[in-house]
Amino acid sequence: MPWSDEHLLGYGPMDDTHKEFVALLDALLGCEDRDVRQRLEAFELHAVAHFAEEDDWMERTNFPPKDCHIDEHAAVLRSVRQVLELVRQGDTAEGRRLAAALADWFPGHAFHLDSALAHWMVKRSFGGKPIVLRRNVGR
Ligand SMILES: [Fe+2]
Ligand SMILES: [Fe+2]
Repeated sequence: MPWSDEHLLGYGPMDDTHKEFVALLDALLGCEDRDVRQRLEAFELHAVAHFAEEDDWMERTNFPPKDCHIDEHAAVLRSVRQVLELVRQGDTAEGRRLAAALADWFPGHAFHLDSALAHWMVKRSFGGKPIVLRRNVGR
């Protein structure tokens, strides 16, 4: 799952976090069995910070549809932690299944929930919709 500018949403701090998300997930998807635990631990640390950052933006700015977005973050983090426990007990396959599920989940989450938050944050900062410059999308 390499980074693609399709994922850009136009709010810089969020785009930077999403690049890190994709890089860490990609590292987990492509790693050897012996590295699954360590890569998933790194991913979990990222996910905690990523979701806390977005939750904080939503809380601080009173983003109207914040509840379902915050709930989705919490549900994903619960799954990551449950699977991390299994991986720590040696169930590497479960870690790989989670990585594939996260790769399926992220584009929809970014498109439906994060993009609305990105627009909201840009609008608050600059009074307009974000302009996104994407390279090589669709090739
Ligand atoms: Fe996000
Ligand atoms: Fe999100």
